[in-house]
Amino acid sequence: MTNKYKYFVANWKMFGDIRTINSINSVIRLSKSKIFINSKIIYCPPYTLLNSFVQKLKNTKIEVGAQNCHESKDPGPFTGFVNSKMIKNLKCKYVIIGHSENRTNGDTDNQINKKIQSALKNDLTVIFCIGEKIKEKKEKKTKRVLSGQLNKGLKNIKNIKNIIIAYEPIWSIGSGLIPKNIELLDNILFIKNVLKKKFKYKKTKVLYGGSVNPKNIKDLRKINQIDGFLIGGASQKPNKFIDIIKKTFK
Ligand code: PGA
Repeated sequence: MTNKYKYFVANWKMFGDIRTINSINSVIRLSKSKIFINSKIIYCPPYTLLNSFVQKLKNTKIEVGAQNCHESKDPGPFTGFVNSKMIKNLKCKYVIIGHSENRTNGDTDNQINKKIQSALKNDLTVIFCIGEKIKEKKEKKTKRVLSGQLNKGLKNIKNIKNIIIAYEPIWSIGSGLIPKNIELLDNILFIKNVLKKKFKYKKTKVLYGGSVNPKNIKDLRKINQIDGFLIGGASQKPNKFIDIIKKTFK
C-alpha cells in the first residue's frame, strides 16, 4: 500500500498503428477517477503516432513522450532521424534516452550525453535509462556499471531537475525476470546516492523498468523508494496497464 506519487511510463516500442490508439480509451476514462490522483501517466508511442496521441490526450492529465531523439539540437541533414526540437514542437513533454535497445543498436555514452543535453535545451524532461547486463550482474559489477553510465551520460549537466532515471536491468527487459526486492532496493538507493552527491539534489525520481506486470507489481510496490515504472509489453494492453496502476496503490 502506498500513497506516494508514482510515474507510469508506457513504452510502446515499435508497436502500434493508427487503429490501436482507441485502445487507450479505458485508460483515459480511468485517469479521471480517484485511483489516479497519485499517478502520472506518460505514453511513449512510436514517432508515427506521437501527434495522434498528443491530440487524443489534449484535455486529459495523461502526457506524451518520444522514445528517442537525435543528438543535434538543430535541424540538419540526418536522414531518418528526429531531434528534440521537433518532439517539443509536437507539444510532447518527455523523451526516453539511453534505452538499452538503442545502446545495443550503437548509442554510445557520449552520444547519449549529447542527446540529453539537446533534449534539456529544448525543454523536454528526459527519462534516462541505465542498467547492467546479466554478465555484469554475475560478476558483481552492477554498481560500477550504473555509476559509469550516470557519470558519462550526465557529463557537463548542471541541473538534474528535468531528468528522471529509469533503472532497467537489461536481463530483465522482456524476459519475465525481475530482481529480488532487496537487490532492487539496494540499486535504487545507490543511484539516488550517486545523484545526491553529484548534483546536491535529493529529489530525482528513479523508476524501475523490466518485465513489470500485474503479478509482480505486488512485490515491486513494496519498495517505497521506487518512484514509478517504465513499462513495455504490459503497457500495450490497456487492461494490464490499468491493473498495474491500480495494484500499485492497493
Ligand atoms: P518490458 O520493457 O516491460 O517489456 O520488459 C520495458 C522497457 O524496455 O522499457
